[in-house]
Amino acid sequence: MKIAFVGCGYVFDIYMRTLWAHPELDIRGVFDIDTARSNVVSRHYGFHVYPSLDALLSDPEVDTVVNLTSIGSHFDVTQRALEAGKDVYTEKPVTTDLDRTRSLFALAHARGRILTGAPCNLFCDAVSTLMKAVRDGAIGRPVLVYAELDDNPAHMMQLEKVQSPTGAPFPYAEELQEGCTVEHVAYHLVWLCALFGPVQSVTAFSDFLIPNKTKTPLVPPDTPDFSVACLQFANGVAARVTCTWVSPRNHQMHIIGDQGEITADNVFHDQSPVHLERFSRVTLAARKAYTARTQPVIGRLFGVGGRRVPLVRRWKSHAVEAEKGVGSSLKHRFVSWLRRREIYAQDKLLGLAEMARAMREQRPQPLPPDFLIHLTELTLLIQRAGAQGVAKVPTTSFAPVPLLDDVLNSPMNYLQTYKPALLERAVAGLVEALHRR
Ligand SMILES: NC(=O)c1ccc[n+]([C@@H]2O[C@H](COP(=O)([O-])OP(=O)(O)OC[C@H]3O[C@@H](n4cnc5c(N)ncnc54)[C@H](O)[C@@H]3O)[C@@H](O)[C@H]2O)c1
Repeated sequence: MKIAFVGCGYVFDIYMRTLWAHPELDIRGVFDIDTARSNVVSRHYGFHVYPSLDALLSDPEVDTVVNLTSIGSHFDVTQRALEAGKDVYTEKPVTTDLDRTRSLFALAHARGRILTGAPCNLFCDAVSTLMKAVRDGAIGRPVLVYAELDDNPAHMMQLEKVQSPTGAPFPYAEELQEGCTVEHVAYHLVWLCALFGPVQSVTAFSDFLIPNKTKTPLVPPDTPDFSVACLQFANGVAARVTCTWVSPRNHQMHIIGDQGEITADNVFHDQSPVHLERFSRVTLAARKAYTARTQPVIGRLFGVGGRRVPLVRRWKSHAVEAEKGVGSSLKHRFVSWLRRREIYAQDKLLGLAEMARAMREQRPQPLPPDFLIHLTELTLLIQRAGAQGVAKVPTTSFAPVPLLDDVLNSPMNYLQTYKPALLERAVAGLVEALHRR
């Protein structure tokens, strides 16, 4: 696929970290209204720089425009690219206005072009593992989800000092102005909706809790830094999704079924550890004990929190297992290794790779228009719920998105291969006896 990037800011370098694993993506060039940025990127990665957006859009060699601009520019850039006859992959959210989002998809349809976009963590190994395990019946019937996106107290994080490997400053002012929900909630909504279908009702609350997170004046100054939403899915599953810039970091995905639970540690880590527990009298009783709850090593002996399971491996799994071409200093290599091991690892190009693959195989896009419009509506409902809270029925919906074939056909079967912990089996009789008079 012949692509060109519009926007060469902070996230651009994150996209570049996994480029080495995507030889099918042919980058024809880049453009940024900030020419200093496009020149830096050009020097570092050797890309051609277009002198203007028009020049990029009139290049017949470009099939697909990748929109990595600031959220406020998403609409204009996507609209112009579609009007120029290009397919578009956009960062999330498509826009922060439901009608404008709809109008872009209508334009794409009218022009016979594809419009799709982030987030692409839906396609990663950790999320694929959750989806396959649920399909296998490993937790019985899924009933409840707790999904957290606490991203640390922003006012303590010195966000002003954070830079990408090629020196793009982290756009902290924009992030705080747009808000943690607009920036992050889609990372959870994408897998929740893919797994459980459209949301039928949203009960949400959002609030602004910590002022003056930065000395930079913000417009508006009080975008919510906390939101929580209870979502009811068409298939009866309920989910509670939390986003904050107030609470210490917690990015867990936690699905509870009537027979067990499955937990992935980090929605920002494509290969996040996943633990599966099938409930037993022992695992449930052990949780009552303070030590089993608070000392994971002891808890695990009794099956609390379950066992770490091997991940489903997908066609681009290797992309986050190495980094090439972004930086080569000893410090960079050490930080990259530490980050990928402990903090987060995302293949941001996976969405584009899946887009290209669907086009090649003449399949519908894995994230189709009605799905992305629904995600936009949910994001905005939650962000704008306010401190009085709202209970709403979304106006949008989508046809179920099928599980990707290779995930469905993965040789892993998480129900059949599950084994309870040794001690869990050994003390089953004792736990029974202790519960009797
Ligand atoms: N920062 C992150 O960690 C992160 C992670 C995932 C997704 N995103 C998303 O990626 C997008 C970009 O984020 P970022 O962090 O790179 O922001 P950024 O502010 O660092 O970069 C945006 C770039 O777009 C350029 N730009 C703005 N309007 C333009 C226009 N009309 N034409 C051409 N260039 C234009 C800016 O000059 C800037 O260089 C946003 O949608 C954001 O939500 C960011």
